[in-house]
Amino acid sequence: MSPASRLKNDNFLRALRRQTVDHTPIWLMRQAGRYLPEYCATRQRAGDFLTLCKSPDFACEVTLQPLARYDLDAAILFSDILTVPDAMGLGLCFEAGDGPRFERPLREEWAINNLTAPDPYDRLGYVMDAVRTIRKALDGSVPLIGFSGSPYTLACYMVEGGGSKDFCHIKRMLYGRPDLLRRILAVTTQAVIAYLNAQIECGAQAVMIFDTWGGSLAHTAYVEFSLAYMRDIVAGIHRNWAGETIPSILFAKGGGQWLEQIAASGCDGIGLDWTTDIADARRRVGGRVALQGNLDPGVLLSSPEVIAAEARKVLEAFGAGNTGHVFNLGHGISRFTPPEHVTALVESVHQYKARS
Ligand code: CP3
Repeated sequence: MSPASRLKNDNFLRALRRQTVDHTPIWLMRQAGRYLPEYCATRQRAGDFLTLCKSPDFACEVTLQPLARYDLDAAILFSDILTVPDAMGLGLCFEAGDGPRFERPLREEWAINNLTAPDPYDRLGYVMDAVRTIRKALDGSVPLIGFSGSPYTLACYMVEGGGSKDFCHIKRMLYGRPDLLRRILAVTTQAVIAYLNAQIECGAQAVMIFDTWGGSLAHTAYVEFSLAYMRDIVAGIHRNWAGETIPSILFAKGGGQWLEQIAASGCDGIGLDWTTDIADARRRVGGRVALQGNLDPGVLLSSPEVIAAEARKVLEAFGAGNTGHVFNLGHGISRFTPPEHVTALVESVHQYKARS
């Protein structure tokens, strides 16, 4: 593997290290997805979403699609956070138009006691093959981001058996049998550490932990049931690999009220959703970590003029000295986004530096 220092564009890694950059780097959560007609065409050829994830060649093809269209500063592995519980034996399926489902949700004490962390090279070997294939195809152009879900977010899907609006099952467990939830979180933490380390060993140059549902926890429960396990992950993953430091980003959806505690977790960057003022976030934690975000994905449904103006608001709110900022959306791109609106966004973020 060529070291990151020989990357043609390392602005993303430099921003996470809070070093000087040529321009504010930008990538988008779900940059490879259904808003792109070429993604839909590849998905159709593959047959379904899971086959796309499980075939390294298809996964590589769709990872590269947004980079062929847009001047993005990072690639993200095409996969899904739910491959880990799938490898733990819960039986993942995606029903058309219906989101993810597990055939065997995790609710019984015996099943929770039997839960073990899978060997990522064995049960998730297709992800490792995808990482190696993508790194080779990127050929040093931009860095590759690996990822996983946070233990609490994965537990939400594992216990609920799919997406949920009220989180009845996991909240019942959290308040009624916290010992069971702690066991799920502890095993999942071990699974995630092994999984992210394997991705790094195969070529991921930064890692991101998606805590999509930590923000649904009560104030005191957040630290105990979500952040504590993410802290263990940050401490357990390779800090250096192949002569390079591997930065980690915690995406804290709805996590604006815990920024100080998140910044103290040892992570290099915090992913912000759009409900947090990035200027305020920078004042609170900017001296300790980089910030990633945080344009409302809904802005991309407007017009190129509005997109340019709203992007500028985020850049200006982050403030002078563009180091320590990775531009992104506050959550994944909507499937109804016109692809040319993304061109307008990437151009306005890159041009901002020219004027500043
Ligand atoms: O960002 C990227 O381009 C990398 C790939 C990626 C996907 N999912 C592909 C995907 C990543 C990083 C994820 C993370 C993920 N997956 C999260 C955390 C981030 C977030 O969005 O909050 C979560 C909660 C999931 C679980 C998941 N996967 C759900 C709830 C769904 C269904 C909702 C939907 O958008 O359809 C998925 C499916 C999924 N994962 C798609 C993609 C491109 C759409 C699948 C399709 O083609 O039909």
